[in-house]
Amino acid sequence: MTQDELKQAVARAAFEYVASKLENDTILGIGTGSTANLFIAELGKIKHDVSGTVASSEESARRLRALNIPVYNLNSVDRVDMYVDGADEANEYLHLIKGGGAALTREKIIAAVSDEFICIADESKLVPILGKFPLPVEVIPMARSYVARQIVKLGGDPVYREGCVTDNGNHILDIYNMQIVNPRELEQQLNQITGVVTNGLFAVRGADRLILGTITGIKTYLP
Ligand code: A5P
Repeated sequence: MTQDELKQAVARAAFEYVASKLENDTILGIGTGSTANLFIAELGKIKHDVSGTVASSEESARRLRALNIPVYNLNSVDRVDMYVDGADEANEYLHLIKGGGAALTREKIIAAVSDEFICIADESKLVPILGKFPLPVEVIPMARSYVARQIVKLGGDPVYREGCVTDNGNHILDIYNMQIVNPRELEQQLNQITGVVTNGLFAVRGADRLILGTITGIKTYLP
């Protein structure tokens, strides 16, 4: 099976799980990226049963609206029941690196609000130690150089993601060469740096369910 076929299989598995729990007033959080896009396409099959969504990016919102699925502002809903999104890396504790698509801040906000965070990925994303994938950090533009110097002190090699402006008007630094043995601690350390909006470690609030597409079938991990 190709990586795309594994992503398709996992999107379908997540759809079946979500559909089995759907109620009249369920609000779904929808993530960003190629795996989330496949989940959105699956959702199109039952669009009349989806009472509403919140999206982690303008791109995902556009895709949902194109299917006539309602997309709400997060401030106009009082809860999010389930949030489905991909990841750039995941470990067995369901700690994640996210933000390869630069949507990390909105993703982290929706994850914080959601009752259940369902992460979907192909098996290439499962790693023993996070950090081979460069860790994205969203920064206020004027603080970029300062934040980069502070990241160097933490042992990372920050690289400015040229030409990338987030949906929030900010910039991204990608941290290379960090073996993240304590994701919770690093997540909190990065959040302490003035000028950091958010970082792509999802460990303090990790996933509640990881659905992985593997060559031998769908595997589900719980924390
Ligand atoms: C978006 O900012 C990321 O957090 C994505 O969830 C992540 O990049 C996964 O993308 P793919 O599903 O395209 O691998």
